[in-house]
Amino acid sequence: MIVSMTGIVKRYARHTALDHLTMEVRKGEVLGLLGPNGAGKTTAIRVLTGLTAADAGKTALFGQEMRARAAEIKRRIGVVPQDLALYETLPARENLWYFGKLYGMGGAQLKSRTDEVLEVLGLTEVAKKPPKKFSGGMKRRLNIGCAVMHRPELLILDEPTVGIDPQSRSHILDFVTEMNAQGTTVLYTSHYMEEVERICSRVLIVDAGRVIADGSVAELTRTVLFEETVVIEVKNPAPSLPDSIKNIQGVLRCDTDGHILTVTSTAGSANLARMLECAAPFVILGVTGKRPTLEDAFLALTGKKLRDGGEGE
Ligand SMILES: Nc1ncnc2c1ncn2[C@@H]1O[C@H](COP(=O)(O)OP(=O)(O)OP(=O)(O)O)[C@@H](O)[C@H]1O
Ligand SMILES: [Mg+2]
Repeated sequence: MIVSMTGIVKRYARHTALDHLTMEVRKGEVLGLLGPNGAGKTTAIRVLTGLTAADAGKTALFGQEMRARAAEIKRRIGVVPQDLALYETLPARENLWYFGKLYGMGGAQLKSRTDEVLEVLGLTEVAKKPPKKFSGGMKRRLNIGCAVMHRPELLILDEPTVGIDPQSRSHILDFVTEMNAQGTTVLYTSHYMEEVERICSRVLIVDAGRVIADGSVAELTRTVLFEETVVIEVKNPAPSLPDSIKNIQGVLRCDTDGHILTVTSTAGSANLARMLECAAPFVILGVTGKRPTLEDAFLALTGKKLRDGGEGE
């Protein structure tokens, strides 16, 4: 276990930002923290990294109480804050040096690590330019670079892709995946379903300061949504075909419209092969599936749509 937070309560005046939040980050995973505006994601990260004290609950990192070993623990984590933390007028390279030095790096090691980080984040060409001349996506990438100079064991990213261009976003997602492949455990906060679906091995859905769902993307969509639909297009189907499909385990309904059969099953039935067996005597023109998405799951769990992200961040 890399992180363990138990029963965390955090209040701001009368507002409860974290309401007995309990979560774990396991070694080697990319854990997604998904939740709407004000859900408490950033507050959870601030408590986790010791930037703010909780009113109740326990936080341990690498099996140790944060309070007891703060300095030692902080060296093992890298945090990419939601709000950019860069020196706007210092060249990109010097921003990286600064953060590297903070973590006790120096000499040839600092230089070679800087070059490496610039390279993997696609910033080598602009290494001498200050971030004030950068696009939003370049600033975000540099912000990430600053957090990984010291090769942290745990990398925490708080919405690192809000409001940036698709190339930078893709670059960042690939970078996170690569860091994870090299052994870094990742905690990734986002509003974007497709990002979480793409890179996270496990997802926690947070709402109003509590964890309301925990599982892989597949598990969450399966447990939350109980139906899934397959549309099968068959040339000249026999009138008996819908009935034989209805007899397949898990099938709830089979609606026919000419040569198009819309089959609804209990989620997770895994009965497509049986349907296709039934339809096999006929010419199958097409099969399309409608899978529940994490977005559907989120909506079902919270009754709220996730903010789109993007503007005004
Ligand atoms: N310093 C603060 N003072 C007062 N209230 C705060 C403070 N920081 C956060 N809050 C409140 O706590 C709640 C949780 O905020 P938090 O920033 O953790 O949410 P979030 O999930 O990170 O949201 P977002 O997606 O917008 O970043 C919100 O209602 C917010 O207004
Ligand atoms: Mg936040």
